[in-house]
Amino acid sequence: MPEWTSVARLADVPDGQAITVQVGKKRLALARADGTVYAIDDVCTHDGGPLGEGYVDGYDLECPRHGATFDVRTGRPTRLPAVAPVKTHRVRVEGDEIQVAV
Ligand code: FES
Repeated sequence: MPEWTSVARLADVPDGQAITVQVGKKRLALARADGTVYAIDDVCTHDGGPLGEGYVDGYDLECPRHGATFDVRTGRPTRLPAVAPVKTHRVRVEGDEIQVAV
C-alpha cells in the first residue's frame, strides 16, 4: 500500500501554475494542468534546475534555468536541453488536500 502524505491544499496550486513542496528529504514540483495536479521530482535532469519554480504551458512544465520542458503527466522531456525523464509521483485529492505517494 502506498503511503500518502498531505503536501498542500488545492488553493495553493492554481491552474496553470507550479509550486515546490518537501516530502521528507525529497523536493517535489506540483503542477496543475487543466485542473489536475501532477507531481514530479523538483530536480531538472539537465542540470538540476528547480522545476517547481518553472512555468506551466498546457501539460508542459518549463525549467526556469535553461528552458527544457517536461510533460507533467509522464515526466518525459518535450524540449531540449533535457533528454532524460524526471520521476513522476502519484497524486490524489482528499477534500481540499493534495496528497502524494513517494
Ligand atoms: S537545468 Fe533545467 S534546462 Fe538546464
